[in-house]
Amino acid sequence: MIKNKLIVVTGGAGFIGSHIAWELSKDNEVVVIDNLYTGNRENVPPAARFVKADVRDERVGELIREADYVFHEAAVVSVVESFRDPVGTEDVNVSGTLRILRAMLEGSGKLVFASSAAVYGDNPNLPLKETERPRPLSPYGVTKVAAEHYLRVYNEIYGLPTVSLRYFNVFGPRQGFNQYAGVISIFINRALKGEPLVIYGDGLQTRDFVYVKDVVKANLLAAESRRANGRTFNVGRGESVSVIKLANMIKELTGSMSRIVFDKPRPGDIRHSLADIGELKGLGFEPEWNLRRGLEKTIEWYAEEQQNGGKKPKSVSKPKSESGRG
Ligand SMILES: NC(=O)c1ccc[n+]([C@@H]2O[C@H](COP(=O)([O-])OP(=O)(O)OC[C@H]3O[C@@H](n4cnc5c(N)ncnc54)[C@H](O)[C@@H]3O)[C@@H](O)[C@H]2O)c1
Repeated sequence: MIKNKLIVVTGGAGFIGSHIAWELSKDNEVVVIDNLYTGNRENVPPAARFVKADVRDERVGELIREADYVFHEAAVVSVVESFRDPVGTEDVNVSGTLRILRAMLEGSGKLVFASSAAVYGDNPNLPLKETERPRPLSPYGVTKVAAEHYLRVYNEIYGLPTVSLRYFNVFGPRQGFNQYAGVISIFINRALKGEPLVIYGDGLQTRDFVYVKDVVKANLLAAESRRANGRTFNVGRGESVSVIKLANMIKELTGSMSRIVFDKPRPGDIRHSLADIGELKGLGFEPEWNLRRGLEKTIEWYAEEQQNGGKKPKSVSKPKSESGRG
Protein backbone atom coordinates (compact mmCIF):
# COMPACT_ATOMS: atom_id res chain seq x y z
CA MET A 1 0.00 0.00 0.00
CA ILE A 2 1.31 3.44 -0.91
CA LYS A 3 1.19 5.59 2.23
CA ASN A 4 2.67 8.89 3.41
CA LYS A 5 4.37 9.50 0.07
CA LEU A 6 4.58 12.51 -2.19
CA ILE A 7 2.69 11.76 -5.37
CA VAL A 8 2.50 13.78 -8.57
CA VAL A 9 -0.35 13.07 -10.96
CA THR A 10 0.01 14.85 -14.29
CA GLY A 11 -3.33 15.17 -16.06
CA GLY A 12 -4.96 14.76 -12.63
CA ALA A 13 -7.84 17.09 -13.57
CA GLY A 14 -8.77 14.69 -16.38
CA PHE A 15 -10.75 11.48 -16.37
CA ILE A 16 -8.28 8.73 -15.39
CA GLY A 17 -5.78 10.97 -13.60
CA SER A 18 -8.47 12.33 -11.28
CA HIS A 19 -9.43 8.80 -10.20
CA ILE A 20 -5.77 8.05 -9.41
CA ALA A 21 -5.52 11.33 -7.49
CA TRP A 22 -8.70 10.66 -5.47
CA GLU A 23 -7.54 7.18 -4.50
CA LEU A 24 -4.03 8.22 -3.48
CA SER A 25 -5.01 11.44 -1.70
CA LYS A 26 -6.59 9.34 1.07
CA ASP A 27 -3.17 8.37 2.50
CA ASN A 28 -0.63 10.53 0.69
CA GLU A 29 0.27 14.07 -0.24
CA VAL A 30 -0.89 14.49 -3.85
CA VAL A 31 0.08 17.22 -6.28
CA VAL A 32 -1.98 17.47 -9.47
CA ILE A 33 -0.35 19.13 -12.47
CA ASP A 34 -2.72 19.95 -15.30
CA ASN A 35 -3.07 22.79 -17.80
CA LEU A 36 -6.85 22.16 -18.04
CA TYR A 37 -6.61 21.59 -21.79
CA THR A 38 -9.36 18.95 -21.60
CA GLY A 39 -9.42 18.57 -17.81
CA ASN A 40 -11.70 20.18 -15.27
CA ARG A 41 -10.59 21.78 -11.99
CA GLU A 42 -13.68 20.28 -10.30
CA ASN A 43 -12.28 16.79 -10.81
CA VAL A 44 -9.29 17.41 -8.54
CA PRO A 45 -9.77 16.03 -5.01
CA PRO A 46 -9.99 18.77 -2.38
CA ALA A 47 -7.16 17.14 -0.41
CA ALA A 48 -4.74 17.50 -3.34
CA ARG A 49 -2.65 20.52 -4.24
CA PHE A 50 -3.50 21.75 -7.72
CA VAL A 51 -0.85 23.35 -9.92
CA LYS A 52 -2.13 24.74 -13.19
CA ALA A 53 0.83 24.17 -15.46
CA ASP A 54 1.87 22.61 -18.72
CA VAL A 55 3.98 19.47 -18.32
CA ARG A 56 6.53 21.14 -20.58
CA ASP A 57 7.02 24.07 -18.15
CA GLU A 58 10.40 24.33 -16.45
CA ARG A 59 8.81 24.75 -13.00
CA VAL A 60 7.12 21.34 -13.33
CA GLY A 61 10.59 19.78 -13.11
CA GLU A 62 10.98 21.05 -9.53
CA LEU A 63 7.79 19.30 -8.42
CA ILE A 64 8.65 16.10 -10.26
CA ARG A 65 12.10 15.87 -8.63
CA GLU A 66 10.57 15.82 -5.16
CA ALA A 67 8.03 13.06 -5.88
CA ASP A 68 8.18 9.44 -4.69
CA TYR A 69 5.82 8.42 -7.51
CA VAL A 70 4.77 10.20 -10.68
CA PHE A 71 1.66 9.01 -12.51
CA HIS A 72 1.94 10.61 -15.93
CA GLU A 73 -1.55 10.82 -17.45
CA ALA A 74 -1.32 14.23 -19.15
CA ALA A 75 -1.48 13.99 -22.93
CA VAL A 76 -3.22 15.12 -26.05
CA VAL A 77 -5.60 12.17 -26.04
CA SER A 78 -7.64 12.65 -29.20
CA VAL A 79 -6.63 10.55 -32.20
CA VAL A 80 -8.47 13.01 -34.46
CA GLU A 81 -6.54 15.94 -33.00
CA SER A 82 -3.29 14.03 -33.50
CA PHE A 83 -3.99 13.94 -37.24
CA ARG A 84 -4.94 17.62 -37.29
CA ASP A 85 -1.91 18.70 -35.26
CA PRO A 86 0.71 15.94 -35.21
CA VAL A 87 3.53 18.30 -34.25
CA GLY A 88 1.65 19.76 -31.28
CA THR A 89 0.61 16.27 -30.17
CA GLU A 90 4.17 15.05 -30.39
CA ASP A 91 5.40 18.01 -28.39
CA VAL A 92 3.08 17.30 -25.44
CA ASN A 93 3.10 13.51 -25.54
CA VAL A 94 6.75 12.80 -26.34
CA SER A 95 8.73 15.91 -25.45
CA GLY A 96 6.54 16.41 -22.34
CA THR A 97 7.30 12.85 -21.21
CA LEU A 98 11.00 13.27 -21.92
CA ARG A 99 11.12 16.39 -19.78
CA ILE A 100 9.56 14.46 -16.91
CA LEU A 101 12.12 11.67 -17.31
CA ARG A 102 14.98 14.16 -17.27
CA ALA A 103 13.66 15.82 -14.12
CA MET A 104 13.26 12.43 -12.47
CA LEU A 105 16.95 11.64 -12.93
CA GLU A 106 17.61 14.31 -10.30
CA GLY A 107 15.24 12.70 -7.78
CA SER A 108 14.53 9.21 -6.51
CA GLY A 109 10.96 8.62 -7.63
CA LYS A 110 9.29 6.09 -9.90
CA LEU A 111 7.36 6.89 -13.08
CA VAL A 112 4.18 5.10 -14.16
CA PHE A 113 3.20 6.16 -17.66
CA ALA A 114 -0.22 6.04 -19.38
CA SER A 115 0.40 4.42 -22.73
CA SER A 116 -2.31 3.06 -24.98
CA ALA A 117 -3.54 0.04 -26.92
CA ALA A 118 -3.27 2.41 -29.90
CA VAL A 119 0.36 1.30 -30.13
CA TYR A 120 -0.85 -2.03 -31.61
CA GLY A 121 -2.82 -0.60 -34.54
CA ASP A 122 -5.09 -3.12 -36.25
CA ASN A 123 -3.37 -6.34 -35.23
CA PRO A 124 -5.40 -9.56 -35.74
CA ASN A 125 -3.32 -11.68 -33.30
CA LEU A 126 -5.87 -11.53 -30.50
CA PRO A 127 -5.64 -11.44 -27.56
CA LEU A 128 -2.80 -8.96 -27.91
CA LYS A 129 0.35 -9.67 -25.95
CA GLU A 130 2.87 -7.00 -25.05
CA THR A 131 5.41 -8.79 -27.23
CA GLU A 132 3.48 -7.98 -30.45
CA ARG A 133 5.33 -5.52 -32.64
CA PRO A 134 3.82 -2.02 -32.26
CA ARG A 135 2.31 -0.79 -35.51
CA PRO A 136 0.27 2.32 -34.65
CA LEU A 137 -2.09 3.80 -37.21
CA SER A 138 -2.19 7.36 -35.91
CA PRO A 139 0.24 10.07 -34.84
CA TYR A 140 -1.25 9.63 -31.34
CA GLY A 141 -0.24 5.95 -31.34
CA VAL A 142 3.24 6.85 -32.59
CA THR A 143 3.71 9.29 -29.70
CA LYS A 144 2.84 6.56 -27.19
CA VAL A 145 5.35 4.12 -28.73
CA ALA A 146 8.04 6.81 -28.72
CA ALA A 147 7.36 7.72 -25.10
CA GLU A 148 7.44 4.03 -24.08
CA HIS A 149 10.89 3.75 -25.69
CA TYR A 150 12.12 6.79 -23.78
CA LEU A 151 10.96 5.18 -20.53
CA ARG A 152 12.74 1.95 -21.43
CA VAL A 153 15.96 3.77 -22.32
CA TYR A 154 15.92 5.75 -19.07
CA ASN A 155 15.37 2.50 -17.21
CA GLU A 156 18.07 0.54 -19.00
CA ILE A 157 20.68 3.26 -19.22
CA TYR A 158 20.12 5.21 -16.00
CA GLY A 159 18.33 2.61 -13.85
CA LEU A 160 15.32 4.91 -13.39
CA PRO A 161 12.29 2.89 -12.19
CA THR A 162 9.67 3.23 -14.93
CA VAL A 163 6.57 1.30 -16.04
CA SER A 164 4.37 1.75 -19.11
CA LEU A 165 0.71 0.75 -18.96
CA ARG A 166 -1.12 0.22 -22.25
CA TYR A 167 -4.72 1.11 -21.44
CA PHE A 168 -7.40 -0.44 -23.62
CA ASN A 169 -10.86 1.23 -23.69
CA VAL A 170 -11.28 2.84 -20.29
CA PHE A 171 -14.71 3.99 -19.12
CA GLY A 172 -16.33 5.37 -15.99
CA PRO A 173 -17.53 8.53 -14.25
CA ARG A 174 -15.95 11.86 -15.28
CA GLN A 175 -15.08 10.70 -18.79
CA GLY A 176 -15.69 13.51 -21.28
CA PHE A 177 -18.45 13.00 -23.83
CA ASN A 178 -17.66 15.21 -26.77
CA GLN A 179 -17.69 13.62 -30.22
CA TYR A 180 -14.16 12.26 -29.82
CA ALA A 181 -14.72 10.75 -26.37
CA GLY A 182 -15.17 7.11 -25.52
CA VAL A 183 -18.15 5.33 -27.06
CA ILE A 184 -19.57 4.41 -23.64
CA SER A 185 -19.80 7.98 -22.36
CA ILE A 186 -21.33 9.11 -25.66
CA PHE A 187 -23.91 6.30 -25.70
CA ILE A 188 -24.89 6.81 -22.06
CA ASN A 189 -25.37 10.54 -22.49
CA ARG A 190 -27.43 10.08 -25.63
CA ALA A 191 -29.46 7.25 -24.11
CA LEU A 192 -30.30 9.36 -21.06
CA LYS A 193 -31.60 12.10 -23.36
CA GLY A 194 -33.47 9.67 -25.64
CA GLU A 195 -31.25 10.60 -28.59
CA PRO A 196 -30.24 7.99 -31.21
CA LEU A 197 -27.16 5.88 -30.55
CA VAL A 198 -25.03 6.10 -33.69
CA ILE A 199 -22.94 3.07 -34.60
CA TYR A 200 -20.27 3.51 -37.27
CA GLY A 201 -20.15 0.32 -39.36
CA ASP A 202 -22.09 -2.87 -38.66
CA GLY A 203 -21.68 -2.80 -34.86
CA LEU A 204 -19.86 -6.13 -34.84
CA GLN A 205 -16.52 -4.49 -34.11
CA THR A 206 -15.35 -5.44 -30.61
CA ARG A 207 -13.51 -3.65 -27.80
CA ASP A 208 -12.01 -4.54 -24.44
CA PHE A 209 -13.69 -2.09 -22.04
CA VAL A 210 -12.11 -1.70 -18.62
CA TYR A 211 -13.65 0.22 -15.73
CA VAL A 212 -11.58 3.14 -14.46
CA LYS A 213 -11.31 1.78 -10.89
CA ASP A 214 -9.56 -1.29 -12.27
CA VAL A 215 -7.18 0.99 -14.15
CA VAL A 216 -6.39 2.77 -10.88
CA LYS A 217 -5.67 -0.60 -9.32
CA ALA A 218 -3.30 -1.50 -12.17
CA ASN A 219 -1.46 1.78 -11.61
CA LEU A 220 -1.02 1.11 -7.90
CA LEU A 221 0.22 -2.45 -8.51
CA ALA A 222 2.66 -1.23 -11.15
CA ALA A 223 3.92 1.50 -8.82
CA GLU A 224 4.40 -0.84 -5.87
CA SER A 225 6.00 -3.74 -7.69
CA ARG A 226 9.75 -3.65 -8.24
CA ARG A 227 9.32 -6.53 -10.68
CA ALA A 228 7.37 -4.18 -12.93
CA ASN A 229 10.30 -1.81 -13.39
CA GLY A 230 11.42 -1.36 -16.97
CA ARG A 231 8.39 -3.22 -18.30
CA THR A 232 5.21 -2.61 -20.27
CA PHE A 233 1.79 -4.05 -19.37
CA ASN A 234 -1.58 -4.25 -21.05
CA VAL A 235 -4.44 -2.92 -18.94
CA GLY A 236 -7.79 -4.30 -19.98
CA ARG A 237 -10.41 -6.69 -18.71
CA GLY A 238 -9.26 -9.46 -21.03
CA GLU A 239 -12.80 -9.76 -22.46
CA SER A 240 -14.32 -8.06 -25.44
CA VAL A 241 -17.84 -7.04 -26.38
CA SER A 242 -19.34 -5.88 -29.68
CA VAL A 243 -20.46 -2.29 -30.01
CA ILE A 244 -24.01 -3.38 -30.88
CA LYS A 245 -24.23 -5.49 -27.73
CA LEU A 246 -22.89 -2.57 -25.73
CA ALA A 247 -25.51 -0.21 -27.22
CA ASN A 248 -28.29 -2.66 -26.30
CA MET A 249 -26.95 -3.08 -22.74
CA ILE A 250 -26.88 0.68 -22.26
CA LYS A 251 -30.44 0.98 -23.59
CA GLU A 252 -31.56 -1.73 -21.19
CA LEU A 253 -29.77 -0.30 -18.16
CA THR A 254 -30.97 3.26 -18.77
CA GLY A 255 -34.49 2.14 -19.78
CA SER A 256 -34.00 4.39 -22.81
CA MET A 257 -36.21 4.46 -25.91
CA SER A 258 -33.26 5.69 -28.02
CA ARG A 259 -33.05 4.20 -31.49
CA ILE A 260 -29.86 2.51 -32.65
CA VAL A 261 -28.83 3.89 -36.03
CA PHE A 262 -25.97 2.90 -38.31
CA ASP A 263 -23.63 5.20 -40.20
CA LYS A 264 -20.73 4.43 -42.50
CA PRO A 265 -17.55 3.11 -40.86
CA ARG A 266 -15.01 5.74 -39.85
CA PRO A 267 -11.67 5.55 -41.61
CA GLY A 268 -8.93 4.18 -39.37
CA ASP A 269 -11.31 2.45 -36.93
CA ILE A 270 -9.93 -0.93 -35.98
CA ARG A 271 -12.09 -4.05 -36.18
CA HIS A 272 -11.30 -5.97 -33.02
CA SER A 273 -9.37 -5.23 -29.86
CA LEU A 274 -8.68 -7.52 -26.92
CA ALA A 275 -5.93 -7.48 -24.30
CA ASP A 276 -3.98 -10.43 -23.02
CA ILE A 277 -3.65 -9.42 -19.36
CA GLY A 278 -1.52 -12.37 -18.27
CA GLU A 279 1.49 -10.17 -17.52
CA LEU A 280 -0.54 -7.79 -15.37
CA LYS A 281 -2.11 -10.74 -13.55
CA GLY A 282 1.46 -11.75 -12.72
CA LEU A 283 1.60 -8.59 -10.58
CA GLY A 284 -1.56 -9.69 -8.76
CA PHE A 285 -4.13 -7.92 -10.94
CA GLU A 286 -7.64 -9.26 -11.31
CA PRO A 287 -10.36 -7.05 -12.83
CA GLU A 288 -12.99 -6.44 -10.14
CA TRP A 289 -15.58 -4.67 -12.22
CA ASN A 290 -17.50 -6.53 -14.90
CA LEU A 291 -19.00 -4.52 -17.74
CA ARG A 292 -22.54 -4.46 -16.35
CA ARG A 293 -21.57 -3.21 -12.88
CA GLY A 294 -19.22 -0.64 -14.38
CA LEU A 295 -21.97 0.58 -16.71
CA GLU A 296 -24.48 0.82 -13.87
CA LYS A 297 -22.11 2.95 -11.82
CA THR A 298 -21.25 5.13 -14.81
CA ILE A 299 -24.91 5.62 -15.76
CA GLU A 300 -25.73 6.58 -12.17
CA TRP A 301 -23.05 9.25 -12.26
CA TYR A 302 -24.03 10.73 -15.64
CA ALA A 303 -27.72 10.73 -14.69
CA GLU A 304 -26.86 12.70 -11.55
CA GLU A 305 -24.66 15.03 -13.55
CA GLN A 306 -27.43 15.71 -16.07
CA GLN A 307 -29.81 16.46 -13.21
CA ASN A 308 -27.30 18.90 -11.79
CA GLY A 309 -27.31 20.70 -15.14
CA GLY A 310 -23.77 19.69 -16.03
CA LYS A 311 -22.22 20.64 -12.70
CA LYS A 312 -20.19 17.60 -11.81
CA PRO A 313 -20.55 15.97 -8.42
CA LYS A 314 -17.05 15.82 -7.01
CA SER A 315 -16.56 12.30 -5.72
CA VAL A 316 -17.58 8.90 -6.98
CA SER A 317 -19.04 6.84 -4.17
CA LYS A 318 -18.36 3.15 -3.76
CA PRO A 319 -21.19 0.70 -4.46
CA LYS A 320 -23.13 0.20 -1.23
CA SER A 321 -22.71 -3.51 -0.70
CA GLU A 322 -19.69 -4.56 -2.69
CA SER A 323 -16.82 -3.27 -4.75
CA GLY A 324 -18.24 -4.11 -8.13
CA ARG A 325 -16.84 -7.59 -8.20
CA GLY A 326 -18.45 -9.63 -10.91
N1 LIG B 1 -9.50 7.00 -21.81
C1 LIG B 1 -8.98 5.96 -22.44
O1 LIG B 1 -9.70 5.01 -22.82
C2 LIG B 1 -7.49 5.87 -22.67
C3 LIG B 1 -7.01 4.77 -23.41
C4 LIG B 1 -5.65 4.67 -23.65
C5 LIG B 1 -4.78 5.61 -23.10
N2 LIG B 1 -5.26 6.67 -22.41
C6 LIG B 1 -4.28 7.62 -21.86
O2 LIG B 1 -4.60 7.88 -20.51
C7 LIG B 1 -4.23 9.21 -20.16
C8 LIG B 1 -5.42 9.91 -19.52
O3 LIG B 1 -6.47 10.00 -20.49
P1 LIG B 1 -7.95 10.45 -20.12
O4 LIG B 1 -8.87 9.55 -20.84
O5 LIG B 1 -8.07 10.61 -18.66
O6 LIG B 1 -8.03 11.87 -20.86
P2 LIG B 1 -8.36 13.33 -20.31
O7 LIG B 1 -8.39 14.23 -21.49
O8 LIG B 1 -9.56 13.28 -19.42
O9 LIG B 1 -7.08 13.64 -19.40
C9 LIG B 1 -5.88 14.19 -19.90
C10 LIG B 1 -5.50 15.35 -18.99
O10 LIG B 1 -4.23 15.87 -19.41
C11 LIG B 1 -4.29 17.29 -19.34
N3 LIG B 1 -3.29 17.82 -20.27
C12 LIG B 1 -3.27 17.76 -21.63
N4 LIG B 1 -2.17 18.35 -22.11
C13 LIG B 1 -1.47 18.80 -21.03
C14 LIG B 1 -0.24 19.50 -20.88
N5 LIG B 1 0.48 19.88 -21.95
N6 LIG B 1 0.18 19.81 -19.65
C15 LIG B 1 -0.55 19.47 -18.54
N7 LIG B 1 -1.73 18.80 -18.63
C16 LIG B 1 -2.18 18.47 -19.86
C17 LIG B 1 -5.70 17.61 -19.75
O11 LIG B 1 -6.12 18.91 -19.35
C18 LIG B 1 -6.49 16.50 -19.05
O12 LIG B 1 -6.87 16.87 -17.74
C19 LIG B 1 -3.72 9.86 -21.44
O13 LIG B 1 -2.32 9.79 -21.45
C20 LIG B 1 -4.30 8.98 -22.53
O14 LIG B 1 -3.51 9.02 -23.69
C21 LIG B 1 -6.60 6.83 -22.18
